[in-house]
Amino acid sequence: MTCTILALCGSLRASSSNRALLETAMSLQPAGLKIELYDGQAALPHFNPDLETAGVLPNPVLPSEVIDLRQRVRQADGLLIACPEYVHCLPGSFKNLLDWLVGCPDFPGKPVALFQATERHEYVPAMLRDVLTTMSAEILDVACFMLPATTNQIDQTWIEKQPALCDEMGRKLEAFAHRIAPKAP
Ligand SMILES: Cc1cc2nc3c(=O)[nH]c(=O)nc-3n(C[C@H](O)[C@H](O)[C@H](O)COP(=O)(O)O)c2cc1C
Repeated sequence: MTCTILALCGSLRASSSNRALLETAMSLQPAGLKIELYDGQAALPHFNPDLETAGVLPNPVLPSEVIDLRQRVRQADGLLIACPEYVHCLPGSFKNLLDWLVGCPDFPGKPVALFQATERHEYVPAMLRDVLTTMSAEILDVACFMLPATTNQIDQTWIEKQPALCDEMGRKLEAFAHRIAPKAP
């Protein structure tokens, strides 16, 4: 059986190293995993709890972009997240995405693997873990991976030219698949 993973990239940059890392993970096509990249982050409205209180406000409507995000999360067996650090913090647009997921009933308990595109970040790795844990995600350490890069000038071609790194990434994804695969009764 194939499990579906939703990949979330914290960067909106066109030549994002984090997206390159996620796209490389997708290209590895690990057995048992189908990885899809979420690309709706830039279109999400600013988080506002008032928009969630259906039935309370006049004309309450959850924005369609948020409904789509939550459906994608509901359909996913796990999340693969790669997120950069901006001014010692999560990028605002990615924190906005996470804030919209706080009210997503399918988020608590969702298995998450964290992929990091550089070893330079000092604050965001721990911060992201804290935020996700507070949201009751299940972070799978066995499936987390860090690219030993110190620049953001990396792309999929650069990563794919390093077979040892791709092998390690593949093993992490296999471990992810193993952890989330439904167990036989
Ligand atoms: C406004 C801004 C602030 C940044 N602040 C930090 C920082 O505090 N710590 C850090 O390690 N890198 C920082 N960076 C570097 C980015 O994290 C780095 O370029 C990262 O690779 C961007 O991700 P991307 O390649 O996926 O777009 C900053 C970059 C920008 C543009």
